[in-house]
Amino acid sequence: MTGRRRDNGGVSDIRINPSILAADFVNMQAELARIDSADFVHVDVMDNHFVPNLTFGPQMVERIQATSPVPLDVHLMIDEPERWAPTYAEIGAASVTFHLEAAAEPVTLARTLRSIGARAGVAVKPGTAVDGLFDVLDEFDQILVMTVEPGFGGQSFMPETMPKLRALAAHARSVGSGVWLQVDGGIGESTIAQAADAGADTFVAGSAVFGADRPDAAIAALRTRAGQAHRH
Ligand code: DX5
Ligand code: ZN
Repeated sequence: MTGRRRDNGGVSDIRINPSILAADFVNMQAELARIDSADFVHVDVMDNHFVPNLTFGPQMVERIQATSPVPLDVHLMIDEPERWAPTYAEIGAASVTFHLEAAAEPVTLARTLRSIGARAGVAVKPGTAVDGLFDVLDEFDQILVMTVEPGFGGQSFMPETMPKLRALAAHARSVGSGVWLQVDGGIGESTIAQAADAGADTFVAGSAVFGADRPDAAIAALRTRAGQAHRH
């Protein structure tokens, strides 16, 4: 299976993950083919409970997994992630991220995901503190700092989330952690540098990629901007 624990072969420590929430759902195979220069495809699963929007579940994600030219980065905006997250790892998603606010036992769930072979991610909404994650950083492969309220694409980037990201990045550096720091929401050419400067290395972009005439060019432009601003 391709893509498990993929790190882009060390070519770059910047990852650009287009979100298919902004793609044409009935032309998914063609949409996926347009982003083959991405590192991962970001797959937003919403249950209309944790967030006030509904997307798709395991059956659709299984087809995306079978069709996608790049590995899957699944973002679960759902209640009861313990019940569903392992299924996405079993389908073959390279990365499965659940929300801290929804998980009863985040560390236990992360261990389960890793045992199935996926990278384990935990996400926090803009208003959720990250301090509680500092002591358990090693349990996760990725921390997703939401830069909008989860639920919808096309919202404006919230710069007030950057101090939290900076604190996480500083802590990760100080303990030598290799955890990936992801941002999601309102990321585009005008905002990606702020997030990269604050320490993000993994960038989700929906409308900025699929809204572009040439998604591959948009991915390249985002990668360049992030690379210039990323703090090493
Ligand atoms: C929002 C989703 C995002 C969304 C980002 O809840 O988690 O992944 O697709 O869309 P943009 O990049 O358009 O803000
Ligand atoms: Zn997302």
